[in-house]
Amino acid sequence: MTADGPTTRGIPLPALETSGPPTGGISIAALGAARSVDAGLPADRIVVGIGARRGVRIRDLRMAMSDGLVAAGARARDVIALVSVEAKQAEPALQELAEMLNVPLRTLSADRLAGQSVPNPSAAAEAAVGTPSVAEAAVLAFGGELMVPKHVSHGVTVAVGRLPTAASTRRAAPGRAKPAVEPTPSNNLDDLHFEDLRHHGDAEIAPGLIDLAVNVRPTPAWLRDRLRAAVDGLAAYPNSDQATAAVAARHGRPIEQVLLTAGGAEAFVLLARALAPHRAVVVHPQFTEPEAALNAAGHSVQRVVLEPPFILYPELVPDDADLVFVGNPTNPTSVLHPTGSLLALARPGRVLVVDEAFMDAVPGEPESLAGSPGRPAPEVPGLVVIRSLTKSWGLAGLRIGYLLGDPELLQVCRANQPLWAVGSIGLEAAIACSTPEALAEADQVARAGEAEREFLLNTLGELADIELGAPPQGPFVLLRVTGSDPVGVHQRLRDAGWAVRRADTFPGLAPGWLRIAVRDRTTSAAFAAALDRAVHPVASPSSSLPRSAGPPATIDLRDNAASQLRQQRQEPV
Ligand SMILES: Cc1ncc(COP(=O)(O)O)c(C=O)c1O
Repeated sequence: MTADGPTTRGIPLPALETSGPPTGGISIAALGAARSVDAGLPADRIVVGIGARRGVRIRDLRMAMSDGLVAAGARARDVIALVSVEAKQAEPALQELAEMLNVPLRTLSADRLAGQSVPNPSAAAEAAVGTPSVAEAAVLAFGGELMVPKHVSHGVTVAVGRLPTAASTRRAAPGRAKPAVEPTPSNNLDDLHFEDLRHHGDAEIAPGLIDLAVNVRPTPAWLRDRLRAAVDGLAAYPNSDQATAAVAARHGRPIEQVLLTAGGAEAFVLLARALAPHRAVVVHPQFTEPEAALNAAGHSVQRVVLEPPFILYPELVPDDADLVFVGNPTNPTSVLHPTGSLLALARPGRVLVVDEAFMDAVPGEPESLAGSPGRPAPEVPGLVVIRSLTKSWGLAGLRIGYLLGDPELLQVCRANQPLWAVGSIGLEAAIACSTPEALAEADQVARAGEAEREFLLNTLGELADIELGAPPQGPFVLLRVTGSDPVGVHQRLRDAGWAVRRADTFPGLAPGWLRIAVRDRTTSAAFAAALDRAVHPVASPSSSLPRSAGPPATIDLRDNAASQLRQQRQEPV
């Protein structure tokens, strides 16, 4: 059978040849959905009451709602209305959230809210909006039964309620307000409490918090000096020839195989706009911008959701996928996939995109497909590698990265790229970071980082109720808290002055997963102590059960992956 491969605007890519229908029995989408959507449960009718200050940011609202839903054990897809006080009717972020969820925003007068008897009245709310409660009172006034009373996070107050079922409504006490809207199933942000494609580590940092959420090392002094000197050339339009040649030489490739971009982030967007895939697959958990870019370009995305320890089995990807995104090493799992598994994903007619944004943090880059003069890239049609200078060189604010691969595909991306997309200081960085000296420095930093990571792992290994997602090989560690209140750990760490990256916003990871940046030993030791206190808030740190030194246990190693494969193939257990 021959299916069309993904087409580019203008240039058709080679046709996809498959030998028959997709071989994996159950569909991967179904597998992913079954894990995150709980399709078998009856739908609840959830009402979210929100109290927020004027000018609240949408991402704070989303995260606060997500926290409230997690605390309630409720699903975002079951939310049927947002409710607040009348004064908030025109609040842009509230309107945006309602629109995203495809539910109405209902507001009630302060008098009406003030008439509700609520568990947690507040004098501050009364002074500000004329009612001692907004969130709780709005849920009650709307006819909801409180599941989670006042829950404050990200500066937003949320209360979560459930509308009575038809049967219980008939039995409800007289005088109980009837819901003002019929249930409207939300479908845009299914299970928001597990996912937010647009949440990234930078959203976690705040003044006064120690940052273990963002994985960018400080900019070396020599590079800052060099970039400062490049300011003298700002009057000229940027010319990317020299930087392209430098990057091409660094990877042992011809210049046609290099396209400089405004960070890896632009590379995702360019690919999503350039390609018209029939079946685009994103392997999760991974950085979420590839999926966001595909969605924004109007493509539907099929997910392959790996389970701990996040081993990539190529057969999990449907045969007829003509566009596949995979990260290596993967953010947030810190798993480094072997090149063999990646290359097994390549085939005629398929564009295989490997995001190597963190590869230069792995000493020797053993599993890289980017190529170098001493180790040429494999000649694999359709293989595209994304690199970034953000992480190892401390250049998040500069926006510089690049695409490596098929010249025809890169040409289409180039055609979609704004003129002068990479400025002259970014070009200077690309030249500076491609020299043998810079590469040697990056390798040295990567090796030092390995030792620091080992220290962090050993320190975490002494804590109870912490499990490692997989043996990490990137500059961060993914772990799962398994204690009695794993969901509250993220906030308790913040209260104690630590910003870590909540990882439950990644598809495939539930509340309780955290991503921790590897820092120096003093920071790691202090963090481990804080984590212990956050995991065991009532008990003293010493009461947590010390285990033998060494890395934390890894979750249910091969069994999970094997059962996932079995489900895939519909094999008997
Ligand atoms: C795995 C991964 N890829 C790509 C990027 C994009 O990086 P940038 O656009 O800064 O190059 C990030 C940023 O967080 C990332 O984590």
